[in-house]
Amino acid sequence: MFVQVIYASRANFPSDAPVGGVEPTVARILQVSKRNNSKQGIGGALYFRDGAFLQVLEGPNQKVESLLRRLKTDARHKDVTVLHRIEVVEREFQRWSMKYTAMDKKVNQWLQQAGLTSFDPLHFTPKQAAEFADVLRRSEETLSDNGALGQRPKNIRPVTAIAVSLALLTALLWFAWLYAF
Ligand SMILES: Cc1cc2nc3c(=O)[nH]c(=O)nc-3n(C[C@H](O)[C@H](O)[C@H](O)COP(=O)(O)O)c2cc1C
Repeated sequence: MFVQVIYASRANFPSDAPVGGVEPTVARILQVSKRNNSKQGIGGALYFRDGAFLQVLEGPNQKVESLLRRLKTDARHKDVTVLHRIEVVEREFQRWSMKYTAMDKKVNQWLQQAGLTSFDPLHFTPKQAAEFADVLRRSEETLSDNGALGQRPKNIRPVTAIAVSLALLTALLWFAWLYAF
């Protein structure tokens, strides 16, 4: 049996411009989270927006509880508020030591559907928290577990890559033909 805990908190730092799609302090939190959580058998997702965090933590009860105790003492956030806690037989976030989603269409759609004009997770109801966790599970990952960007850089499209490869191949064949005759 595993436990899934969803909590919200407020950031204690001013947001800097994102680097590679992620705010730098959040990127450091993610790096440590991924490293520690994979060793502890913990998974989950982190969302950061408008100075607030929502995090899903999933794993063995004692491991998650001890992480929560440590998290509450972290000076980078405050007002840690547990919104939802359930026991799960099958883990929903097993694939991710800590999934990170930056802005995502699904998140915005959900906020709109829920009639929320801003992201204020400290005031989410337990039902909203559970729904939001599900949105995060289905959303596109910004950073993968190996730290690589999950989203393709916008300037390198598959079509461009194919066109460049074809041009190179044509040039190569042309030179080969010239050389042969
Ligand atoms: C919003 C937020 C989420 C965090 N999530 C995790 C987490 O999932 N796992 C983790 O190990 N640390 C997490 N941390 C960091 C911990 O508070 C703590 O700094 C870290 O676990 C210490 O690890 P270390 O002893 O390996 O440096 C988080 C911190 C913040 C502010």
